Amino acid sequence: MHVVTCIAPVNIAVIKYWGKRDEVLIVPTNDSLSGTLSMEQMHAKTTIMASPNFKKNCIWLNGKEESFDNERLLTCLREVQRRAERDGANKDLLKWHIHVCSENNFPTAAGLASSAAGYACFVYTLAQLYSVKGDVSQIARQGSGSACRSLAGGFVRWHMGSAPDGSDSIATQVVPETHWPEMRVIILVVNDKKKKVSSTSGMQRSVLTSELLKHRITYCVPQRVKDIEKAIISKDFNTFAEITMKDSNQFHAVALDTYPPAVYMNDVSHAIVDFIHCFNKAKKSTKVAYTFDAGPNACLYLLESAVAETIALVNHFFPGHNSKNIIQGLPVPPANVQETIAAIEKMGVVRHEEGLLKFVINTRVGEGPKQLTDSSQHLLSPSGVPK
Ligand code: DP6
Repeated sequence: MHVVTCIAPVNIAVIKYWGKRDEVLIVPTNDSLSGTLSMEQMHAKTTIMASPNFKKNCIWLNGKEESFDNERLLTCLREVQRRAERDGANKDLLKWHIHVCSENNFPTAAGLASSAAGYACFVYTLAQLYSVKGDVSQIARQGSGSACRSLAGGFVRWHMGSAPDGSDSIATQVVPETHWPEMRVIILVVNDKKKKVSSTSGMQRSVLTSELLKHRITYCVPQRVKDIEKAIISKDFNTFAEITMKDSNQFHAVALDTYPPAVYMNDVSHAIVDFIHCFNKAKKSTKVAYTFDAGPNACLYLLESAVAETIALVNHFFPGHNSKNIIQGLPVPPANVQETIAAIEKMGVVRHEEGLLKFVINTRVGEGPKQLTDSSQHLLSPSGVPK
């Protein structure tokens, strides 16, 4: 019997991946770039056990047994095993069936990028199980495109590549998490009940119908990726923030240009955008950048020096029930924001009704996946069933 447990992070793109040029290989129509979020607040955790006694492959996700008969899951398993064979892994081990148990320590239902962390964790854990060496981002990519960017910490770039077999469509680290230690991320989880179009089918429809997507991938993204990479390396927050916001806005413009349109942001999301612009204007400098994925939640990138004020302002303009928001994650120091509130209100921003946000996560840019060596961390008991 052989067992390994690992954790892997969530990533939030500042240059969005939206469009595939090959649906099976999962190779994108453009480069993308993301920040990796600290695993202290959010992570996927996966235990994989291989045993000669197992009759078939089994998988439990967030406490529920799911079918292993899933194309993307099977591709990832086959590719890691192929690599292991090439690296000379133990032949018996490769023949044994596996049991997989995976869970997120954050609510999947909140619509936070859980498939990226989940697939990154699955592939990373398999690679440890079979002692596969080297980069496995091109395998994780075949689980969920954005998953390849969760295999490293700091800021990570997914190169679209050009090889027909996808072999050069890989993720590489731009800078480690230690490069810009002041970088913080605040996630505003918006209350929302609407069923949305999945990223996979939304981007498929955009590739088929959006003229704006063609313009985006040809003329906008290549320059933006270069510029934002430079801004990250030189720690130029202003440039970083402006590109991040423009790219989020353009991605959602493409979603609307899709036919029929894919609508991901809601009224609360748009109110957050307006609030951030007014906040930056009131401070006469860019303090905060917003970005939105395929859902209404806002992800704010900012420096540590702006965290206390931003959260105090969010609490004022988007109050929780009984006027308090639930803040998870890093501790938040108090801030006096009376003057800034007055300046923002002058620009026409109003205090919204209570309860528009479900909760707030205060986190930072963090490191890549890691193996947990303490056996008490395993999610499977020695017999191979969830604990
Ligand atoms: C809006 O990686 O979830 O979050 O490759 O089809 O699994 P598939 O899509 P997925 O798409 C993520 C889209 C995005 C932007 C991003 O993370 O870059």
